Amino acid sequence: MGSTIKYMTTAEIREDFLAFFASKGCKRYPSSSLIPDDPSLLLSNAGMNQFKEYYQGLKTMHEIGACSCQKCLRTNDIDNIGDSRHLSFFEMLGNFAFGGYSKEDAIRWAVEFCTKEEHLGLPMDRLFFTVYRDDDESIELWQKYGADPSHITRLGEEDNFWAAGPTGPCGPCSEVYFDQGEEFGCGSPDCAPGCDCDRYLEFWNLVFTQYDRQEDGSMPDLPHKNIDTGMGLERISAIMQGQHSNYEGDVLRSLLGVGERLSGKTYGGKATGTDRSLRIIADHARAVTFMIGDGILPSNEGRGYILRRLLRRAVYHGRLLGIEGAFMTQYSAEVRAIMGEVYPALTDNAALIDGIISAEEERFNATLDKGEALLETELGAMEEGADLPGEVAFTLHDTYGFPIDLTREICETRGHAIEMDSFEAAMKDQRERARAAANRDAWGTYNNAWTSLSDELPSTEFCGYDADEVDGATILAIVCDGEPVSHAAAGKAVEVVLDRTPFYAEMGGQVGDTGTLSAETAKVCVLDTKHREGDLYAHVGEVVEGDLSVGQKVVATIDHGRRELIRRNHTATHLLDAALKRVLGDHVSQAGSLVAPERLRFDFTHFEAVTPEELARIEGMVNAQIFAAEPIVTKVMGIDEAKAAGAVALFGEKYGDTVRVVSTGSSEGEVFSRELCGGTHARNTAEVGLFKIVSEGSVGSNARRIEAVTSAGAINYVDERLALLDLVAAGLKCRPNDIAQRVEQIQAELREVDKKLQAALVGGSSNQIQDAIAQAIEIDGYKLCIGRLDGISAKELRGAWDTVREKLGPASACVLASVGEDGKVALLAAGTDTAVKSGFGAGNLIRQIAPLVGGRGGGRPNMAQAGGRDASGIDEALKAAHSALSDAAQA
Ligand code: ALA
Repeated sequence: MGSTIKYMTTAEIREDFLAFFASKGCKRYPSSSLIPDDPSLLLSNAGMNQFKEYYQGLKTMHEIGACSCQKCLRTNDIDNIGDSRHLSFFEMLGNFAFGGYSKEDAIRWAVEFCTKEEHLGLPMDRLFFTVYRDDDESIELWQKYGADPSHITRLGEEDNFWAAGPTGPCGPCSEVYFDQGEEFGCGSPDCAPGCDCDRYLEFWNLVFTQYDRQEDGSMPDLPHKNIDTGMGLERISAIMQGQHSNYEGDVLRSLLGVGERLSGKTYGGKATGTDRSLRIIADHARAVTFMIGDGILPSNEGRGYILRRLLRRAVYHGRLLGIEGAFMTQYSAEVRAIMGEVYPALTDNAALIDGIISAEEERFNATLDKGEALLETELGAMEEGADLPGEVAFTLHDTYGFPIDLTREICETRGHAIEMDSFEAAMKDQRERARAAANRDAWGTYNNAWTSLSDELPSTEFCGYDADEVDGATILAIVCDGEPVSHAAAGKAVEVVLDRTPFYAEMGGQVGDTGTLSAETAKVCVLDTKHREGDLYAHVGEVVEGDLSVGQKVVATIDHGRRELIRRNHTATHLLDAALKRVLGDHVSQAGSLVAPERLRFDFTHFEAVTPEELARIEGMVNAQIFAAEPIVTKVMGIDEAKAAGAVALFGEKYGDTVRVVSTGSSEGEVFSRELCGGTHARNTAEVGLFKIVSEGSVGSNARRIEAVTSAGAINYVDERLALLDLVAAGLKCRPNDIAQRVEQIQAELREVDKKLQAALVGGSSNQIQDAIAQAIEIDGYKLCIGRLDGISAKELRGAWDTVREKLGPASACVLASVGEDGKVALLAAGTDTAVKSGFGAGNLIRQIAPLVGGRGGGRPNMAQAGGRDASGIDEALKAAHSALSDAAQA
């Protein structure tokens, strides 16, 4: 293999690929989010995902095709990550056509891009090709554009048929391989592309997408013959940089470097031990950074769980490398530095990404210690080669947050596997318990009716931004007991669809409107308004008068007062969001909200409790906006214009081309809050009246919740508090202003009373003490008082010792026992310094006699105590003390 390959950086290859296909007439598309628009897919896994509707003929592209560099995530091979090829996150270069250019074009351009000196310039004799078993056309085309027939292999369905998921566009494919040289091969005479050895590296897949696989497995033709190609950017970068592993191209190599710096170890390019751990952290940390940047947060299900697994596995491998303390944000910073320019979500959300990573890492580090200890104990007790019980793996998962692949990995290093059957069974049980506990969607059974209605009816027109009432709206459908009906009589629970309505349907946290629908012959009381399929608004309520039929005209009127309160609370959430960002920082991002008439709730990403001082500043800032009486402006504009104006979008949310932007208030000449929002708002901040925070607390692991009230709700809240204060003041017999002082005074009085009570209690047992003192005996060098003083506590026993010492003088000691009111035994041994010098040892003595009352205890030579449960042993214990001390004195 004498031919030299020119060096190109990842950035150069990315740009050259996109420019090449743009020059062929393909439109350049930015990468879509890792959260796909497609409910059949958990994470974006290929460049074609964002074009699914073009493949299906539901959308038409004006250009002949498209090209992109797509962020992808595949975790089906998570255990293999760390070998030289597998990555979870990777970038895929792709060119696409939806009938616009042909298979021949795709193959011709692939050869041109691979071999032309001004592009990759790879020598044709090092390129190999595979085709789907009966795809003669591709064989002919590769040959036509210069491939040697001996470089083309036919492969079957497993290798050369591609689908993004179980259903949807798919088709046969043809792959381009790079020959790394014989020295990488297995030596077998049959060695060819598709062989498991490292000689032939696949780097470009050309899919001829022509089928649309259905749920039932059938594969009707798509409307066009399509092209979908994918080139692994890390793979081709390594090739162009003379490396043999995906990890050794410039981008991942610099992430390996972070691990080298942190661990003090040197990367040696192997797929085991230290090198493997360095690779795993580099890969997973990059994936985690991108996932959070696209709006995925750690959780226990779906994408959030994949994120959590990747992060935890990276942290664990950091530990294997001996990296001390939290380290993951060192990686996210490097990812930002090398990839932030191409993927702005990384820099836009930097504070949030780092905040989430640190919080998650810290939490996992704490449980890792405990979980590892548990696993160590289990492994230590197991016979060589035995399987770890599935229940243990489940406990590790459930209680300690150990992803199963992490447990497996730790077990494997010790030569054990996991009993997967019992693990799966425990997981299944847990899922069933969770399912049974989860609230069923009360409307779930209605879905079928709504699916067909959404096909037939136009979307509901919402006219409620300004109007509270619409006259002459037409009833388009009535749904009763889950079925569309043409009439509904009084007393029936119904969902009514109108052509247009002032009722706001629950969305973005804002609750649905209530009100009435009045037809000539009927009246409906609307208790809620909900979004249904196809953007239909369901007015949910009851027919209270007459007979309602489809086609009737109605006057639709919302409850005006209730909506006014909702408007104010919605505006307040925007002001609150803006104030939180100003006071706490850029990592604050809305994580959920409820905008109801009587209150508002706002959940946001933040990693520690908000302090009372911060809360006061936030509340003050919101109120300042309210008192400044700023107008609220809503405008519909293009998404790009809105983003350029700095409008806050919901993290991870996707928006259409035109959006509604709500701008509120001002601060130092800037708009105070500007958000993309479809909700209803006050017209002026002054309408909000007053804003009071009612509570602050945590929700989930990375988010906090603030509950607040405004306008009438705030006044109610303040009134209630003041009334409570009056009640307390009356109870304390003082004025409200004096409450603090009065409470302090009462506490001081209580302390005094408590002291007196203690003295009285000791006094109450004073006869017993006096008796005990009277019977004190002389030991060598001190007086010893032994006695039983029932009915007093351990604390009071110490008081009794004070009395004994006062009476018997500086050379004295005691051994006292009592049974408290709760039946528990207390023992006390105490002696003055002189007694101790003469051989009295309280600690030893107590240790010796405590077992006789069924207890344990100890202490210093001059003071020791014990508690016990067995009162029947007291006399024996005291006797034992007596003989021990007299024996010691005689000895
Ligand atoms: N969509 C094809 C793949 O991912 C190109 O391999």
